[in-house]
Amino acid sequence: MNMISFLLLAWILNSGDAFNDFPSLITANASMAIVIDKSFFDNKIEYRDTVRNIVDFITNVTNEEAHMSDINMHIFRDTNVNNLRDYTVLLSVATCYQTWSLHDVARKEELVHLAITNQDCPRFSDSEGVIIPLIPMGDELSQIFFDIRTADALFWNSVNILHDDTFDKNTISRVTKAISTALPNKKFNLVSRSLFVFKHANSDRSRRYYIKDMLETFHVEQLGKCFLIIVTIDAAADVMEVAKTLDMVQPDSQWLYIITDSVIRNSTNITTFIDLLTEGSNVAFIYNATDSDAYCNVTLMCHVQELIAALSNALKLSLMTEMELYNRMSEEEFELIRLNKNERRQEILKNIKIKLVEDTFATGGTCGKCLFWRFASAITWGNFFIHGKTSAHLINSGTWIPTLGVNLTDAIFPHIVHGFRGINLPIATYHNPPWQTISLTNTGEKEYGGLVFDVIRYLGKKLNFTYTVHSPRSNRTVKFIRNESDIEVVLTSTTRKIPPEIVDMVAEKKVLLAACAYTVNDRGRGKINFTLPIFMQTYSFLTAKPGQLSRALLFTAPFTKETWACLAASIIIMGPILYLIHKYSPSSTRTSGLNSPWQCIWYVYGALLQQGGMYLPHSDSARLLVGVWWLVVMVLVATYSGSLVAFLTFPNMDTAILTVDDLIAHKSQLTWGFPNGSFLEEYLKNAEEEKYHILLERSIIHNTTQEAEVIKKVKAGKHVLIDWRSTLMFAMRSDLLLTDGCSFSLSTDEFMDEPIAMIIAQDSPYVKIINTELHRMHESGLMNKWIGEQIPMKDKCSDSSTNQGVEERKAWLDQYYFCAASFTVTGAKYRSDAGYSLFFLEIHREDGFERFYFP
Ligand SMILES: *[C@@H]1O[C@H](CO)[C@@H](O)[C@H](O)[C@H]1NC(C)=O
Ligand SMILES: *[C@@H]1O[C@H](CO)[C@@H](O)[C@H](O)[C@H]1NC(C)=O
Ligand SMILES: *[C@@H]1O[C@H](CO)[C@@H](O)[C@H](O)[C@H]1NC(C)=O
Ligand SMILES: *[C@@H]1O[C@H](CO)[C@@H](O)[C@H](O)[C@H]1NC(C)=O
Ligand SMILES: *[C@@H]1O[C@H](CO)[C@@H](O)[C@H](O)[C@H]1NC(C)=O
Ligand SMILES: *[C@@H]1O[C@H](CO)[C@@H](O)[C@H](O)[C@H]1NC(C)=O
Ligand SMILES: *[C@@H]1O[C@H](CO)[C@@H](O)[C@H](O)[C@H]1NC(C)=O
Ligand SMILES: *[C@@H]1O[C@H](CO)[C@@H](O)[C@H](O)[C@H]1NC(C)=O
Ligand SMILES: *[C@@H]1O[C@H](CO)[C@@H](O)[C@H](O)[C@H]1NC(C)=O
Repeated sequence: MNMISFLLLAWILNSGDAFNDFPSLITANASMAIVIDKSFFDNKIEYRDTVRNIVDFITNVTNEEAHMSDINMHIFRDTNVNNLRDYTVLLSVATCYQTWSLHDVARKEELVHLAITNQDCPRFSDSEGVIIPLIPMGDELSQIFFDIRTADALFWNSVNILHDDTFDKNTISRVTKAISTALPNKKFNLVSRSLFVFKHANSDRSRRYYIKDMLETFHVEQLGKCFLIIVTIDAAADVMEVAKTLDMVQPDSQWLYIITDSVIRNSTNITTFIDLLTEGSNVAFIYNATDSDAYCNVTLMCHVQELIAALSNALKLSLMTEMELYNRMSEEEFELIRLNKNERRQEILKNIKIKLVEDTFATGGTCGKCLFWRFASAITWGNFFIHGKTSAHLINSGTWIPTLGVNLTDAIFPHIVHGFRGINLPIATYHNPPWQTISLTNTGEKEYGGLVFDVIRYLGKKLNFTYTVHSPRSNRTVKFIRNESDIEVVLTSTTRKIPPEIVDMVAEKKVLLAACAYTVNDRGRGKINFTLPIFMQTYSFLTAKPGQLSRALLFTAPFTKETWACLAASIIIMGPILYLIHKYSPSSTRTSGLNSPWQCIWYVYGALLQQGGMYLPHSDSARLLVGVWWLVVMVLVATYSGSLVAFLTFPNMDTAILTVDDLIAHKSQLTWGFPNGSFLEEYLKNAEEEKYHILLERSIIHNTTQEAEVIKKVKAGKHVLIDWRSTLMFAMRSDLLLTDGCSFSLSTDEFMDEPIAMIIAQDSPYVKIINTELHRMHESGLMNKWIGEQIPMKDKCSDSSTNQGVEERKAWLDQYYFCAASFTVTGAKYRSDAGYSLFFLEIHREDGFERFYFP
C-alpha cells in the first residue's frame, strides 16, 4: 500500500517536470559523480586503495542514514568527462589543472563541486564549490595569497615584495607566482612587481642598518606604494620603525606584513605593534596563529571523509526542508515553489561550509585544526582628533584555514576602502561670504554654506567622514553701509586675512583642516600648509561708465571741420565769381539780386539751402556756373543728410578704459589704487612687464576703512579701483540694485592670478589624499559648477546697458524719421556674455526687417 502511494506520488511529481526539470530530493536520490585522477597518485596501488576507500566510506555513510538520504555514485575512471547533466554533486580528486577543467563542465551543469587537489591552486568562487588543497605544514604562504586574490581583498596593480634572507628561494618564488599569475576566474590587473631582499642579522642595530640601506634608496614613484613584507616578527618591528623614520608610511601607501614565526616565538598577541603605527598609515598584518599543540592530520582520506560527512549532512537538511514544504502545500504549489538546481546548489554549499567551519573550530573535525592564520588591520585615520595622540588600534579583519581559505570580516586595508570609516572630524571655519557662510536655521542650529562647504561636503562623502565645525567668536561680515543722503556699497570679503585663532587650531592639529578660503602666501610658513587651490581669482579694474558726448553740436558732426571750412570758403569765393561773370558778360542786364558781390554770396548761399534766388542770371555763362553749383549742392546735401542719420543712430561715447594700456595712457587724468594688504602689490613687484611697474608706482593704497569714499570717487570718474574681478562685479551688481542704473564699467583685461586654498597643518598626513580629491573635483568640472552657483561671474551691468542702449537708439530714430526714404536703419553694438562684441544693423521695411551682424 505504502509502495503504491509512493509510486503514485513519484509519478505526479515527475509529471510536474515542466516547471522545474531537476527532480526534487524526495523523488530521486542525489547522484554523485566521482572523478579520481590517476596521475594524482604516486603509484597504481595507492590509487586503487584510495578509490576503494572512498567508495567504502560513502557506502558506509549512506547506509548509516539509509532511511533519510541516499547517494547514487558513479565513478569515472577517466578525467575527460564532458557530460555531467544528471548529477547533483561532483567529487574530484585531481591535480589543479584537471580540477579546473572539470570545474568548467560542472559549472555549466550547476553541480556542487567538491574537490581535493594539490597545493597552490586557486579556489572556486563561493557559490560554485569547495576546493581543499592538500597543504603540508609550513608551505601555506603561497596558498594564502591565491586565496586573498580569489576573495578580491587587495586592489594592487604594483607590488614591492620585501623579505629577509631567512626565507628560502622556493617559498618566495611560490609567493611571487601566487601574486602574479592570472587566475582562471578573475580579472588580472597586476602591472609590476619588484623583489627586494635584505640581510637578516642577529643584532637589532645591524638589522635596522640593512633595512634602512634598502629603503632609503627606494624609488617610490616608479615602484608604487604597495609593500608586501614577508618577515619574522622581530624584523617586522624593525621595518616598521625604519619606514616610519623615513616617512614612507603615508595614507596613500599600503604595508602588508606577513609574520610567519609568531607561533614559535609565543607572540600571537601582536598588539605590541600599535606603538609603531603612525597617524594616517595603512598597515595590516597576516600572522600565523596556528595552535601547535592541536591535533592535525593532512591526508587525502581525512579530507574526503570531512567533505562527504558535510555533504551528507547538507543533503539531509535539504531533504528535510523539502519534505516540510511538501507537507504544507499541494503538489502543484510545491513544484512551483521548490528550489531549482542552482538554488539547491547554493543551499547545499552553504550547509557544507557551516558544517566544515563548525567541525574545524569546535572539535577539530576529522583532520584536526591544522593551520590557522589571522588578519589584523590597523585603524589609524583620524585618531589625532578623536582620542588624543596615540590611540591607533588593531582590529581582527579575518582568518584563514586550509579547508575554506580566507574569511574576511572587514577589508584588509579598511581606510583604503572606507576612507575615514564614517568618523566625525573637527574642522574650523569663520563667516566670510561668499566663500564660507554661517547662518542660523529657524530651529536655531548653525548651518554652513558657501563654496568651501560645497567642497567639504563632497570631500566628506568621498573620504567617508562627517564633521563638527569649530568657529572662533569674532566674526567679520560683509557690510552694506547706508548713509542718509546716498547709498554706498562696500565689500570687505577678503581672503587675505584669516583669524589667528583658526591658524592656531590648524597648527596645533586640533582640526583636520580649516574650511576657509585663504590666499596662498608665505605667512605662517612652517606652521601650516595649503591644499591645492580651490579657485583662482583674477584682478580687473573698475572705472566710471563712459558718458555720451554732448549732442549740442551733433548737426555739425557729419562733416569735419575742414569740410565745413571749405564749404564756407567756396560760398565766399563763388559769390564774387558769379558777380564778375554776371557783370562782364556781353548780354549783361542789371538783374536785381545780383548787383553786388554781397548779393551774389547771398544768392549762392540760398542755392545751397535749395531755396533758389528770385531771379536767374541772363547770360549763359552765369547760368552755367549756377547750374554747376546746384549740382554740387545736390551732392553735398545728400551726403550730409545721409551721414546725419548715422550720427543720430550711434551716439558718440567717450572711449572706455578697458585695458591696462588704456589706463596707463590716461595716467594724467586718472588716479588708481588697490586695497591695503592686497597681494597684488607683491605680484606687481615681481612682474616682468614694464606696464605693471608703472601701474604699481602710480597706485594709491587705500586702507579698508576708506572703501566708501573710494567707490564714490570711482563713480565720479576720477579714480580707478583695482581689485578681484568677482569683488568688483559684486560691487557693480549691488550698485545696480541700489541706484537702478549702471554707473561703472569693468576692464576686459584680467591680470594676475591669485590662488585661493584651504589650510591644513604643516605635517598633516592627509594633504595628499585631500589634494587628490580636489584635483578630481577640478577635473570633473564639479568645482566650476559650484563656483558658478556661488559666485556668478556674469557681467549683468554690461548686458543691461547694451539692451538699454538699443531701446534708446530706436526711440531716437523715430524722432528723426524724416530723413528716411523707404526704409530705416537701426544698429547697435552688441556685447555677448562670452565677452566678444558685434555690431548689427537692422533694415526695416514696410514688410518687416532684416538684421545683419558684423564682427
Ligand atoms: C535510492 O537508492 C536506494 C538504494 O540505492 C533505493 O532503494 C531507493 O529506491 C532510491 N530512491 C529513489 C527515490 O530513487
Ligand atoms: C605556522 O605555524 C605552524 C605551527 O607552529 C608551523 O608549523 C608552520 O610552519 C608555520 N607556518 C609558516 C609559514 O611558517
Ligand atoms: C612559549 O610559551 C610556553 C608556555 O606558555 C613556554 O613553555 C615556551 O617556552 C615559550 N616559548 C618561547 C620561545 O618563549
Ligand atoms: C595582548 O597584549 C596586551 C598588552 O601588550 C594586552 O593588553 C592584551 O589583553 C593582550 N591580548 C590578548 C588577546 O592576549
Ligand atoms: C567568517 O567569520 C565570521 C566571524 O568570525 C563567522 O561568523 C563566519 O561564520 C565565518 N564564515 C565562514 C564562511 O567561515
Ligand atoms: C564609511 O565607513 C563605514 C564604516 O566603516 C562603512 O560601513 C561605509 O560603507 C563607508 N562608506 C563608504 C561610502 O565607503
Ligand atoms: C608643506 O610646506 C612645506 C614648507 O612650508 C613644504 O616643504 C612642503 O612641501 C609642503 N607640503 C605639501 C604637501 O605641500
Ligand atoms: C596698511 O596697513 C598697515 C597695517 O595693516 C599699516 O601699517 C599701513 O600704514 C597701511 N598702509 C596704508 C597706506 O594705509
Ligand atoms: C588709513 O590711511 C590713512 C592715511 O592714508 C591713515 O591716516 C589712517 O590711520 C589709516 N587708517 C587705518 C585704520 O589704517
